[in-house]
Amino acid sequence: MVGAGHVGATTAQRIAERELAREVLLIDVVPGLPEGKALDQWESAPVEGFDTRLRGLSSYEETAGSGVYVVTAGLARKPGMSRSDLVMKNAAIIRSIAKEIAAHSPQAIILMVTNPLDVMAYVAKETTGFDRRRVIGMAGILDTARFRSFIALELDVSVQDVQALVLGGHGDSMVPLVSSVSVGGIPLTQMLDEERIEALVERTRKGGGEIVSLLKSGSAYYAPSAAVTQMCESIVRDKKRVLPCSVWLEGEYGLEGLFLGVPCKLGRVGLEGILEAELTDGERSALERSAAEVKETMEALSAE
Ligand code: 2OP
Repeated sequence: MVGAGHVGATTAQRIAERELAREVLLIDVVPGLPEGKALDQWESAPVEGFDTRLRGLSSYEETAGSGVYVVTAGLARKPGMSRSDLVMKNAAIIRSIAKEIAAHSPQAIILMVTNPLDVMAYVAKETTGFDRRRVIGMAGILDTARFRSFIALELDVSVQDVQALVLGGHGDSMVPLVSSVSVGGIPLTQMLDEERIEALVERTRKGGGEIVSLLKSGSAYYAPSAAVTQMCESIVRDKKRVLPCSVWLEGEYGLEGLFLGVPCKLGRVGLEGILEAELTDGERSALERSAAEVKETMEALSAE
């Protein structure tokens, strides 16, 4: 777990409680932080009944040979700050982390959480030279979870019966696929009028910002850590779950040369396939707009 802040530490605890790893290592630049949190977490093991070890580190040597690195280190958004504002500062942080990962664990899988994550995943892929199966961004599961949770609240039904899919970049132009939403197998469009659905879509797009403005300092971590834990589980247990993740596109959905959220099959080797959904014309142009937004941030980075 690179970064022992709220997202990293909560993910570590979730992974340990599910025993998804033999050992979870937390690493951070703040002295004592990863050691303190990991020790506290390990002390919960006898009560929670897990045997996953947790340890805090301040350098990468002992992470050598790790299977999965979850990268959460970086600056978080402040109220009024867009994800893209973070790009320059976090790119420098991610480059130095990616070099350490490639040097110590050249076979590892990197799960990118740091924002703007579609672009940070690109920075990690460029820096490590890893192929696209092994650099994957977390966002679609989070954005889809937000969409599902809002639909469940609106209809007062179990979240388990709400199926949905959010594609695109993890930004305000993400694309909740209204055509694919079903509630207990019934299309959402038969249950809610267009205006209500549009309000839920808008709330989903701004979901990260809603939490930031409530918290005032810091951003969401319970739902983001749940999302990246689900990715870890599908990889380490080779479950081959189909989950929306940000991956390097090579022509899928008519797009290439960027990381963007699409439905992915995740298994032991990382990204094992991309599933192509049929989109309506409106959804396709929304996805293209979202791709253009990600590319714009990538260009800002190369103009550095
Ligand atoms: C979120 O969506 C901040 O990107 C983060 O909560």
